[in-house]
Amino acid sequence: MIEGNKVRIRAVEQTDLDEIMKWVNDPEVIDNLLMRYPMSRYLEEKWMEKALDTSDMREKTFTIETKDGVYLGGIGLHKINWENRNAEVGIVIGKKEYWGKGYGTDAMLTILEFAFTHMNLHRVYLEVYDFNTRGIRSYEKCGFKKEGALRDDRYSRGKYHDTIIMGILKEEFEKIL
Ligand SMILES: CC(C)(COP(=O)(O)OP(=O)(O)OC[C@H]1O[C@@H](n2cnc3c(N)ncnc32)[C@H](O)[C@@H]1OP(=O)(O)O)[C@@H](O)C(=O)NCCC(=O)NCCS
Repeated sequence: MIEGNKVRIRAVEQTDLDEIMKWVNDPEVIDNLLMRYPMSRYLEEKWMEKALDTSDMREKTFTIETKDGVYLGGIGLHKINWENRNAEVGIVIGKKEYWGKGYGTDAMLTILEFAFTHMNLHRVYLEVYDFNTRGIRSYEKCGFKKEGALRDDRYSRGKYHDTIIMGILKEEFEKIL
């Protein structure tokens, strides 16, 4: 368990599958993610098999829950590069009624603390679509800086959007603690 102030980050459990199926086909949620096509339970089970396999040192995927144990979503460090000590972070609060209440920011701060202090990573970065103002605001609060933009990288809602790259270095994170 990785304890935050409002959330707890824990291992993915098979029992999370029912909760994941509740948001994984909700356009309002997945519009912000890499996903695009309808997702079957079978494909989600395949995803879960990978998440349950902790032997892959380049991928660490977890579940976010409230302190009372309410499932909220997932967070993960991906493409972990142990030579350059960096990783891409991904986050989703699947329960929409919990958006905008500080849970995502707390989960991100918690995983950053874990990444820099316990995993000895040096840089954590993420990709976010330009229309995801809630996400961008949350990441800025965590200390992420905009590093660049992939112009017209994502076609969504009938037009092209930039994918923004944001990143934070260990020393920058330590200053905001
Ligand atoms: C992005 C996400 C993780 C953020 O978590 P969250 O718990 O909703 O965010 P928080 O409440 O911690 O912070 C959001 C901030 O944005 C602000 N905000 C909320 N809605 C907003 C909006 N529509 N436009 C701009 N800012 C907004 C909030 O007021 C808050 O800032 P404040 O504390 O200064 O007032 C979550 O909303 C989510 O999972 N969304 C769907 C999937 C997704 O976008 N994943 C990330 C892909 S990069």
